[in-house]
Amino acid sequence: MREVESLQKEVWGCDDREIVPLSILAATREIGAILIGAFEGSYLIGFAYSFVGREDERMVHHSHMLAVRPTYRNVNLGYKLKLAQRDRALAQGITRMTWTFDPLQSLNAHFNFAKLGVVADAYKINFYGETTSSFLHQIGNGTDRLWVTWPLDSCRVHERLQTKVQSITSNLESDRIACLVRVGPNNEPQRGQSLEVGCQKDVSIQIPADINALQRERPELAVRWREATRWAFSEAIASGYVIKDFIGAPRNDQSVGVYLLSAGKRVKDFA
Ligand SMILES: CC(C)(COP(=O)(O)OP(=O)(O)OC[C@H]1O[C@@H](n2cnc3c(N)ncnc32)[C@H](O)[C@@H]1OP(=O)(O)O)[C@@H](O)C(=O)NCCC(=O)NCCS
Repeated sequence: MREVESLQKEVWGCDDREIVPLSILAATREIGAILIGAFEGSYLIGFAYSFVGREDERMVHHSHMLAVRPTYRNVNLGYKLKLAQRDRALAQGITRMTWTFDPLQSLNAHFNFAKLGVVADAYKINFYGETTSSFLHQIGNGTDRLWVTWPLDSCRVHERLQTKVQSITSNLESDRIACLVRVGPNNEPQRGQSLEVGCQKDVSIQIPADINALQRERPELAVRWREATRWAFSEAIASGYVIKDFIGAPRNDQSVGVYLLSAGKRVKDFA
């Protein structure tokens, strides 16, 4: 647990008062929290942490942290930690897991939607306040988060875990559906008409492929991306859309990420 404290500071770059300390890890683990480490020998290289909560009158696990040391990324460790976390939640009789992530982070969007099969119908503005010390909380003004649900024992998740690669069809479909925000020339956000929401069964929201590079090079543009996507997600969710997928869709010479949203279904319908 001491190593988990250190790893939090390394991965998120946050200061002492923003980490979850050993005392909370130990106390919550005693009453059902799941804390799993990935090790090389005795060296901690990643961990997942979730605690028990209640949502819509149901018990859930809320996954507060998932982290893999930078040099150990992209070899499925994060994925395996989530699978182990899922197994343990199911063994406790809990079939729903929630967490939050910054929807401008395309890597996390791909990980959450494409690899794991989460769905989302809530957007939290400045969830952790306007600023924190974390690297990941510096993007484009504020700490907006998408609140996602992982319906652990659903057909959707079973299928997604068996075939995580998405079909080319869904890539093509994303070109045809109405877009609330798209990546325009010079990576500028271009808003669609609000009227499109509600008239269409499916809509999409695009994001730049690499918001972190954009934040470094043109921070004012990252702020505009925060504003545009905050508007788009809030508007779509208020009109009854659910965010159900994310695909990387190369368009012209730009690489963009595309969220796919559908009307008519709620998150609980996926469980
Ligand atoms: C998110 C995190 C835990 C993922 O850990 P990981 O061990 O690298 O995860 P995996 O290897 O299982 O999956 C990473 C996926 O992202 C993809 N990926 C890597 N770099 C990418 C990029 N620049 N753009 C898009 N996708 C990318 C990988 O190809 C892989 O997908 P694939 O299996 O379909 O090819 C890790 O990046 C991390 O610790 N990030 C900082 C903390 C954080 O953001 N935590 C919150 C997670 S919601």
